[in-house]
Amino acid sequence: MDGHRHWRALTIEPCLPADLEEVLSLYDAALGQGYVRPVEISGDRAGVVFDSLVARLAGQLVGAASYAVAPLTDLILAGVPALARRQVRDLLPEPDATPSGLLHALAIEPAAQGRGLGSALCLAARECLASAGARLILALAWTDDTGCHAAGALSRAGFERAGQAERAWYEDSLERGLPCPSCGLPCTCAADIYVWRAD
Ligand SMILES: CC(C)(COP(=O)(O)OP(=O)(O)OC[C@H]1O[C@@H](n2cnc3c(N)ncnc32)[C@H](O)[C@@H]1OP(=O)(O)O)[C@@H](O)C(=O)NCCC(=O)NCCS
Repeated sequence: MDGHRHWRALTIEPCLPADLEEVLSLYDAALGQGYVRPVEISGDRAGVVFDSLVARLAGQLVGAASYAVAPLTDLILAGVPALARRQVRDLLPEPDATPSGLLHALAIEPAAQGRGLGSALCLAARECLASAGARLILALAWTDDTGCHAAGALSRAGFERAGQAERAWYEDSLERGLPCPSCGLPCTCAADIYVWRAD
């Protein structure tokens, strides 16, 4: 494949209602069927506003990133799986009144991985969140026995690893009956906790 030509055809745009089904299918395949809900692609839940970006190469969907912003850190933490929430809160010296963001989901089509698209989407999502006022952005990065999938993409987008939550999705996967694509049900994967802070 001619990587350069495809890069020139890359677009990263806000997700529109017409993109929703395609983005859900991408997330279902990459992160597990039903793991990302439609409201978490674009919507408003309990004071948290979700939005997404889609990446296309020559018009074809190759990736997506979904993120959330809220005026308080605790509103963001309320959407984090319960087992990880306390650990994440303990890592944050910021007061609860800090406008905060969450990088909620990120996926690149397998055939397009390893060419910097995940990094580009992470950076674009981070910039959208910072423009929306977030001073602190969290990401719970999926870590299975192959490693932390998004570590390189998050680091390149300016996030720093702050710690790890073991079995972060264990309860969540049982409650929602959602098998992990990597380890099944219940999910025993860890979450590496990444943080970006505004200067
Ligand atoms: C994680 C993901 C979004 C990265 O997208 P990408 O376009 O391949 O990312 P980039 O090309 O910008 O960066 C590739 C990096 O990801 C790393 N990576 C991808 N899958 C990995 C895995 N399973 N374990 C460890 N590292 C992994 C590559 O080794 C590479 O690392 P490097 O930059 O340090 O060399 C993509 O692999 C993906 O969609 N994976 C499945 C879904 C997923 O895990 N989403 C993240 C949830 S937090």
